Amino acid sequence: MIDLGNNIKITVNNLTVSYNDAGSDESLVIIFIHGFPFNKSMWKKQVEALKNNYRVIAYDVRGHGSSEVGDEDFSIELFVKDLVNFMDALNIDRAILCGLSMGGYIALNAIANFPERFDALILSDTSCIADTPEAKEKRFMAIENIQKDGVEKFADESIKNLFAPESLFTKKNKIAAVRDMIVNTSKQTLYKTLRAFYERKETCSRLSEIKVPVLIMVGKEDNITPTATAMLMHENIKDSIIHIIDHAGHLSNMENSVEFNNLLTKFLPLIKDT
Ligand code: MLT
Repeated sequence: MIDLGNNIKITVNNLTVSYNDAGSDESLVIIFIHGFPFNKSMWKKQVEALKNNYRVIAYDVRGHGSSEVGDEDFSIELFVKDLVNFMDALNIDRAILCGLSMGGYIALNAIANFPERFDALILSDTSCIADTPEAKEKRFMAIENIQKDGVEKFADESIKNLFAPESLFTKKNKIAAVRDMIVNTSKQTLYKTLRAFYERKETCSRLSEIKVPVLIMVGKEDNITPTATAMLMHENIKDSIIHIIDHAGHLSNMENSVEFNNLLTKFLPLIKDT
């Protein structure tokens, strides 16, 4: 019997991890991995849309939301170890992964290293490319700016980049929810995750090894992981499907949840239960 509900706590790698678990334990499992610096609540609309047909799990990556931060330095490899140990702790042998941005970095690294654990991938507004020297410089500047000006200013600056320009006027509630997630993330987590991104290895050279169904989605106005980046992954993952989502920037699942969920619900029946 599984424990369905919200904000469930489980110990993974000596760390308390918080997750939401909805649906039925008889169904295919989909694990949602949020972006940075957000938390599991960003998947609310997807969980609602899928829970009648799937077991839908959204968890907080260490340091984010209600999961503990731990003592170790962060890395994408550590996040993957947490994910696989989380699946083990829940007795989940195989799952479908859906990751947005940082969640996609984790999903791409996870399938490269543990291909036997995943039935399909949904890669949203993410990239297989490591940080360029300019991107690394921006990570350092972000850390300095947070130290100097605080998290509220970091949140306000981030929002301008995260959303499509039209969303800044039409999606005030979503902007408020995202701002809330950012300002409630500890400085320690912000610094540790920015350093992990800086050191992140590319996964583009591993894309041709992916043998499971892959759906790639990207907001038309995503400035952080743009459509060209999504196209690069599509060209290198055999039989992958790509969709560009209108009226959305980097947070396509929140900005246009209707289109995002339609694409998800069309894609998921293509996956075979193994
Ligand atoms: C995210 O949404 O996870 C971040 O934009 C990722 C990044 O900054 O590389």
